[in-house]
Amino acid sequence: MLELNSVSVDYGAVKAVQSVNLRVNEGEVVALLGPNGAGKTSLISAVMGIVQVSSGNIRFEGRDVTLAPPEEKVRCGIGISPEGRRVFANLTVAENLQLGGSAQPDKAIRAEQLTKYLEMFPILKERYHQKAGTLSGGEQQQLAISRCLMSRPRIVMLDEPSLGLAPVIVERIFELIAELKASGLTILLVEQNANEALSVADRAYLLHSGRLRFEGAAQELLNSHDLMSHYMGLGEAQ
Ligand SMILES: Nc1ncnc2c1ncn2[C@@H]1O[C@H](COP(=O)(O)OP(=O)(O)OP(=O)(O)O)[C@@H](O)[C@H]1O
Ligand SMILES: [Mg+2]
Repeated sequence: MLELNSVSVDYGAVKAVQSVNLRVNEGEVVALLGPNGAGKTSLISAVMGIVQVSSGNIRFEGRDVTLAPPEEKVRCGIGISPEGRRVFANLTVAENLQLGGSAQPDKAIRAEQLTKYLEMFPILKERYHQKAGTLSGGEQQQLAISRCLMSRPRIVMLDEPSLGLAPVIVERIFELIAELKASGLTILLVEQNANEALSVADRAYLLHSGRLRFEGAAQELLNSHDLMSHYMGLGEAQ
């Protein structure tokens, strides 16, 4: 469904992503893991067209979308919930969700989507007319995710959805990811919460200093203490 071939991203002299090959098949949850500065956000920003790739190409559903701007990516069916839950703080929950669905021309489909996500994220229904900036961190994260889903993406890239949240909220976010997976959505999940991410993912990629260090079944990475401790600083140091 989504295919990256030798994708590199440079910021001047900084080589953030170096020649990465990555694939996400329809219906899969794929975890993209790596420590701070590994290049995870740069990689999905390149997929979204927010940053330019310096070389390589990106294909979505068989089409070359390497140079397509973000609006076109949204129209193609690619969605992103950016790092740091960027909701519009001065707009209400309702207005944030409307903006997420604004690319959808069919009013009936927009209304259907809204009903669906308010059911899935009941807290947003409760806070519907409240300014997004007054929501808690976990509530803002749910808003960021549902705002992105309002555009009816076929693949969604979630950039650290659990960052900075209390353990009980983290658990809820991962439950939601499992629900989205069960509903058939394809997900590329960027996380530093490796154990949780690998528990929900089918496959995983491990990125370090812009390069892929592992690609394989999520379970395999979960069981590999060496890889996890070496690249993620997790588990017992050997
Ligand atoms: N706009 C930018 N200009 C210059 N360098 C950048 C820019 N954005 C990111 N970088 C650099 O690119 C590298 C990769 O950053 P990126 O944000 O993609 O990492 P990340 O894996 O998402 O990290 P984190 O887990 O901290 O979010 C880092 O060295 C970072 O400093
Ligand atoms: Mg990041």
